[in-house]
This record gives sequence, C-alpha cells and structure tokens, in this order.
Amino acid sequence: PPAQHIVIAIDGPAGAGKSTIGKLLAAQLGALYIDTGAMYRTVALKGFRLGVIHPSDPPEPLNPEQEARLSEIARTTAITLAGDPFHLQVFADNEDVSEDIRLPVVSRYASIVSAIAGVRSALVAQQRRMGAEGTVVMDGRDIGTHVFPDADVKFFLDASVETRTERRYAEQRARGVDCTREQTRLDVLERDRRDYNRAIAPLRRADDAIWLDTSSLSPEEVLQKMLAFIQERLSTR
Ligand code: DC
Repeated sequence: PPAQHIVIAIDGPAGAGKSTIGKLLAAQLGALYIDTGAMYRTVALKGFRLGVIHPSDPPEPLNPEQEARLSEIARTTAITLAGDPFHLQVFADNEDVSEDIRLPVVSRYASIVSAIAGVRSALVAQQRRMGAEGTVVMDGRDIGTHVFPDADVKFFLDASVETRTERRYAEQRARGVDCTREQTRLDVLERDRRDYNRAIAPLRRADDAIWLDTSSLSPEEVLQKMLAFIQERLSTR
C-alpha cells in the first residue's frame, strides 16, 4: 500500500506561534516541516544583495521593473530547507541565509515582496512539489486557502497584537537585534495590514480551518490541542 501522506496546513499572522508549534508538531509526527515564510524572506534578501531593492524605512513601493526582477529571482533561486525541525537551515543556492533572513528589514520587505504575483506563483509551485514528497507540516499565510486547499488538516493560529508583539520582541532581542518594543509593534501592525489586504492569496482563515487563539496558551498546550484535532479529523474520514 502507498505510504500515508498527510498535509497539515498552519496559517496565521506574524507572531501567532506558527513556527514554534509547526516544529513541535512536525517532530511529533515525524513529518517534514516547511516554513514558507522563509522562502519569501529569501527572495527579499536576495533582492537586497543584488541591488534590486534598496532598504528604506518606511519601505518604498516597488516599480514594475523591480517586480519583474524579483519574480525572476524567485524562479531561478534554488531555495532549500534542510535539517531537522529544530535546526532548520535555509539555503539560497548554496549560501546559508538562515540568520540573515530573520533581520527586521527582511521581515518588512518579505511582506512587500510576497504581494508580487510572479514571486507567489514561483514559490507556490515549489511548495506544492515539496508537499508532494511525504507527510508535511507547512506554515504560511495561504497554505490552507491556496497552496493546499485539500490539506488533510488545517489550522489558523491567531493571538492578540500585544502577545504577538511581545513574542517578536523577545525573539529579536534573543537574536541580538537592536529594536524597541514600539517599533516591533508597528512592524507587526504594518505586516498584518499588508498580509491581510493584498490582492493575491491574502491571509485569511480557510472555511474548514480550525481556529485557535494562542494568546494565553503555552506551546505545549497548543500542541496538545492540535494533536487531538488531528486525531479526530483523521479518524473520521
Ligand atoms: O511567516 P514569516 O513572518 O516568516 O513570513 C514573512 C512574510 O512572507 C509575511 O509577512 C508574508 C509572506 N508570506 C506569504 O505571503 N505567504 C506565505 N505562505 C508565507 C509568508
């Protein structure tokens, strides 16, 4: 019989806990963990490196030529995710970009770059290929609505703006990034605005996604709830 091949989609806004929980869940299920945000981040980073985007704060809107070049980057860069869920490494061609893609300026521009149609179609095609390889936990913004509308189990994780700001702020500080809480809060709000309102595959909960507010839950509590839902969904089909 064919090996069981399950796709679990986790969507939600920045700081809702998708990657923390996605990693725990993948480890628990022996699944591949795919961080699709890392792919959009990688395209933005490469855009800086190649001089296509010039970082500014606030970000400047991109012109059609920049959009075309970024789409080309998305089509031609070999983005690979390697390692186990807890030591995920991201490579752009053969360069390890795992650290650099987490810089706040990259977060800001990844959200802008992800609104470009050509970038999305290139990365979504790659994500669908990755998801066909085995049991996967895939986290992003449009996984349950667009990348895998037939995913076996879909989650939408959310949390209050305050909680998400605190998490992002702690994460940045732990990485040694110099930032203020207020700047982090504005970044979270600005990213929400873009991710929810873009024209193509905006962030939204799929009708059949399980909605979980993680504001007052520990990662372990969220994990247990999700495992229970997964068991239930998979046993009743
Ligand atoms: O999850 P993250 O913060 O690493 O994602 C970075 C940006 O990439 C996010 O602001 C929106 C975009 N993104 C997307 O548009 N679609 C996805 N599936 C994942 C991320």
